[in-house]
Amino acid sequence: MNDSVTKGQFITIEGTEGVGKSTNMAFIEKWLINAGKELIITREPGGTELGEKLRAVLLDAKEQSMSDDTELLLMFAARAQHIHEVIQPALDAGKWVLCDRFTDATYAYQGGGRGIELSRIAQLEQWVQGDLRPNMTLILDLPVDVGLMRAGKRSTPDRFELEKHDFFNKVRDTYLARAAEYPNRYRVIDASPSISEVQQSIQRVLEKMV
Ligand code: TMP
Repeated sequence: MNDSVTKGQFITIEGTEGVGKSTNMAFIEKWLINAGKELIITREPGGTELGEKLRAVLLDAKEQSMSDDTELLLMFAARAQHIHEVIQPALDAGKWVLCDRFTDATYAYQGGGRGIELSRIAQLEQWVQGDLRPNMTLILDLPVDVGLMRAGKRSTPDRFELEKHDFFNKVRDTYLARAAEYPNRYRVIDASPSISEVQQSIQRVLEKMV
């Protein structure tokens, strides 16, 4: 990428449950800092004070009556605030932004998982983001049952983690379909080998960006 030396890049990390986002986010953060990049680390839903409050509502396992449209709109409400307060100012200042999930998660979870038409999500994306899209999206990919087994070893399930296999298979299929449709922006990283092999694959992507 020619302009990457001077301009901040917007990188997002995606995947279904238990694919190892947190470990690999930490690896990417360290790698980029070592490469001399000034970067911010953030996440969705969340990333701002208001966004974190919306996150708490969205993930609350007691919110069983939340409609699919409410869920979709709250995701974009949190995102609008996040872009306004954090992401756009950082990019404008030439910083790199590393974000744990972004709008691809909305396509995958609300679109693929919940069955909301992708064209409606695209309308909201255009409205809330204008031209803002990640420069690079890494999709950590694992068979759903392997990921759920890894994730299951962690704390009490949130509202999404309570979903069934079938839901997460649709989420995964939607991520992979998007990666196949727009190969320039996505890299699918096989998350099944050892951590060091996964991180070598990630490093190869980062080396081309700095
Ligand atoms: P996390 O557990 O990876 O932090 O993500 C929180 C949950 O929110 C995760 O189950 C995926 C879900 N999510 C959506 O459903 N749509 C979105 O747009 C985003 C950003 C996350």
